[in-house]
Amino acid sequence: MTTTPAGEDYPRIGKVLVIIPTYNEKDNVESIVARTRAAVPVAHILVADDNSPDGTGDIADGLAAADANVHVLHRAGKEGLGMAYLAGFAWAREHGYDVVVEMDADGSHAPEQLHRLLDALGEADAVIGSRYVPGGKVVNWPAHRLLLSRGGSLYTRILLGVPVRDTTAGYRAYRLDALDKFDLGTVASAGYCFQIDLTWRAVRAGLRVVEVPITFAERERGASKMGGSIVREALLRVGSWGVKHRAGQVASLFGGKDKARR
Ligand code: GDD
Ligand code: MN
Repeated sequence: MTTTPAGEDYPRIGKVLVIIPTYNEKDNVESIVARTRAAVPVAHILVADDNSPDGTGDIADGLAAADANVHVLHRAGKEGLGMAYLAGFAWAREHGYDVVVEMDADGSHAPEQLHRLLDALGEADAVIGSRYVPGGKVVNWPAHRLLLSRGGSLYTRILLGVPVRDTTAGYRAYRLDALDKFDLGTVASAGYCFQIDLTWRAVRAGLRVVEVPITFAERERGASKMGGSIVREALLRVGSWGVKHRAGQVASLFGGKDKARR
C-alpha cells in the first residue's frame, strides 16, 4: 500500500526515510527538518510526534504542507522513543522506503554527518553513529551524562558481549529488509533501552553492524526527556538479557547444544 511516492534513491541503498521522534521540540523541529533537507535532498523525513503539548505537531504539519518530502505521524500520547520508532518503521514499510534513519530532533545528531551513515550502509545492514570510536566526539555534555552513557555502554558490553562501542547511540541507519531478520513485534523497550535492544537483536541475528564516528553535541534549546525510569528500564532489561545469555553460555560449556545464542 503506497500512498506517497517514497522519492529518489540514495546511491547503493535506495529510498531513505529519516524518522525524527519529537516530544515538546517546538524550538527545534523547524531547524532540524531544514538542515536534513539541505544535507541529503533525496531523503524524506517523518516527524513522529507524541501529541506534544507545546504544539510541535502543528509546526510539523506546517512544514509538511510546504514540502512534499516531509511527513508527520501523529501519535495519541507520550509512549517513549522506542514506540515512536516502531510506528515510524511500520510507516516506512507501508510507504515503500528501503532505509530508515533514527535522528534526535534537538540537533545533537548533525544532519551534515548523515552521509557518513548512509555511505557506510552501502556495505552494512545497520550503521551506528558512534561517539566512542576513534574520531567520535561528545560536545557540551555534563560529566554525569557522559559517565552514565559510557557506563551504560560498558555494562551492556560486559553482560551481552556485543562488539559495539556506543550501544545506546540514537543516530542510526537500518536497511528495512535486514530488520525483517528479527521480530520487531516482540520489542517492548519503550525508552532509550530501545537502542540497546535493537543492537542486541541485530548482533544475534547476524546483521552486519558498523560504527562510524559522529560528533554528538548537547542540545541548545528545550529539555532532555532522559529520566530515572529510562535508566531503570535499561538496567533491568539489559541485566535480565545478560543473565540469560551468560547462563546459556555456561550451559553450552557443559554439553548443552547451541544454547549460547539465546
Ligand atoms: N515521540 C517521542 N516520544 N519522542 C520522544 C520521546 C517520546 O516519548 N522521548 C524522547 N523523544 C525524542 C526527543 O524529543 C528527541 O527528539 C529525542 O527523542 C531524544 O530525546 P532527548 O531527551 O533529547 O535525549 P537525550 O539527549 O537525553 O539522549 C540522547 O542520548 C541517549 C543516550 O545515548 C539520545 O541520543 C538518545 O537517543 C540516546 O539513547
Ligand atoms: Mn537530546
